[in-house]
Amino acid sequence: MKLVLIGFMGGGKTTISQMLATRLTLKNIDMDEEIIKISGRRTDTEIMDIDGETIFRELELQIARKLRTEKNAVISTGGGVIMNKLSIDYLKESAVVIFLDHSFETAVKRLAAGTPPPLFRSAEKARKLYALRKPLYQYYADIHITTDEKTPDQVTEEIIQKIKRL
Ligand code: S3P
Repeated sequence: MKLVLIGFMGGGKTTISQMLATRLTLKNIDMDEEIIKISGRRTDTEIMDIDGETIFRELELQIARKLRTEKNAVISTGGGVIMNKLSIDYLKESAVVIFLDHSFETAVKRLAAGTPPPLFRSAEKARKLYALRKPLYQYYADIHITTDEKTPDQVTEEIIQKIKRL
């Protein structure tokens, strides 16, 4: 089974991916980590700030292409993966795509604790990005889960129940 988690920043993709991988005994793959490995940089923020978003999306596409052959894994993506049709098309191949959906206000709350991700520094721009991307997440998703006010455990359990019903 191949599961791909998509959704806006602050949706808990990384955490839920780890939990799902453990519960379902699948490999956990974090796309941002894979991108960092091939970039020669230390963080996604460094890639964005030094190389720029276009380079980041190219590296993201390379990783998405490489992951086409992956079979038993949960893949957590970066929030912008749906901006490149080729990337999401590669990821969608023989996978169940799960959209972790949350309100923009929840994203603000969840991201308030740490350093904001590069594309979340301006609240105004981030809100526009959120509105632009939401229909794309919806379009590519096989399963839709809202995560506002839910714990990672609850979200993980809900996904497992929905997968069983597919
Ligand atoms: C991005 C989200 C980040 C990371 C990069 C770009 C985006 O991942 O891929 O900074 O465009 O929304 P998370 O969604 O895991 O924060």
